[in-house]
Amino acid sequence: MLLQDYQPRPDALAERVILVTGAGAGLGRTAALAFAQHGATVILLGRTTSKLEKVYDEIEAAGGPQAAIYPMNLEGASIKDFEDLAERLEETFGRLDGVLHNAVLLGGLTPLEIYDIERWYKILQVNLNAPFMLTQACLPLLKKSGDASLVFTISNQVKQPKAYWGAYGVSKWALQGLMHTWAEELENNTNVRVNSINPGQALTGLRRQVYPGQAAGDAPEPEALMHAYVYLMSLDSREMNGQTIDCSPDESVSPTAS
Ligand SMILES: NC(=O)c1ccc[n+]([C@@H]2O[C@H](COP(=O)([O-])OP(=O)(O)OC[C@H]3O[C@@H](n4cnc5c(N)ncnc54)[C@H](OP(=O)(O)O)[C@@H]3O)[C@@H](O)[C@H]2O)c1
Repeated sequence: MLLQDYQPRPDALAERVILVTGAGAGLGRTAALAFAQHGATVILLGRTTSKLEKVYDEIEAAGGPQAAIYPMNLEGASIKDFEDLAERLEETFGRLDGVLHNAVLLGGLTPLEIYDIERWYKILQVNLNAPFMLTQACLPLLKKSGDASLVFTISNQVKQPKAYWGAYGVSKWALQGLMHTWAEELENNTNVRVNSINPGQALTGLRRQVYPGQAAGDAPEPEALMHAYVYLMSLDSREMNGQTIDCSPDESVSPTAS
């Protein structure tokens, strides 16, 4: 079956505890809602509490399992902050069944020749260092799951690096490398699998920042990609490790769902 034809069961994520970073807006918000809709208890991590509260309320209004909010600005977060998070999750849930590394800082398109070094550090901190530290801190919790799914969000820059995308583009390349490294290191003797997803295009705040003239219909709404996100978090993708689901419209080969 092609992934585009995959239709998750309504309870595909029942009993699963999933952490989503950048859950207050865009693809992270939509994924959190979709995970809850399919039965998951979702931990909403992001930097703007009011946005997280809104998503929490939406999940509640839709009758999903009660979510949890964890405000955190990844820009200034240290390994201690991630260890504290893991400790809180251990106390509350006892395990983690999934992490969607989704939060992102774009920082605008700029030639490398004049790229501001402070901005470079900030972007690599949010997009690359934070997912590494969060994964490391949460690994003991993920190992307590019967099947834990770690998902890193990459972008088209991994397929084709482009001028002016600066630290954002470089962070996505590095994230893909990080995904493969974790996947190989964890493939034996753990129930933790590690994959990435390239949303390709989705009409979100990030996309409007890059293409301000873009209107509805010029790119898919985030909801159109959610079957792939739910698939990766569900047991249906249990055999996947070290792979990438590419949702970009120019992708000629659709991944196969088992
Ligand atoms: N949209 C696309 O077309 C597209 C294409 C390829 C890849 N992607 C990838 O998909 C993922 C989601 O993108 P998106 O389009 O949904 O982006 P978005 O609309 O800009 O949302 C990004 C999210 O990350 C959060 N965030 C940013 N900085 C943070 C920080 N320092 N600490 C904690 N949270 C932070 C934001 O929080 P606030 O809302 O509070 O600012 C927001 O919730 C990203 O990894 C992106 O690279 C998107």
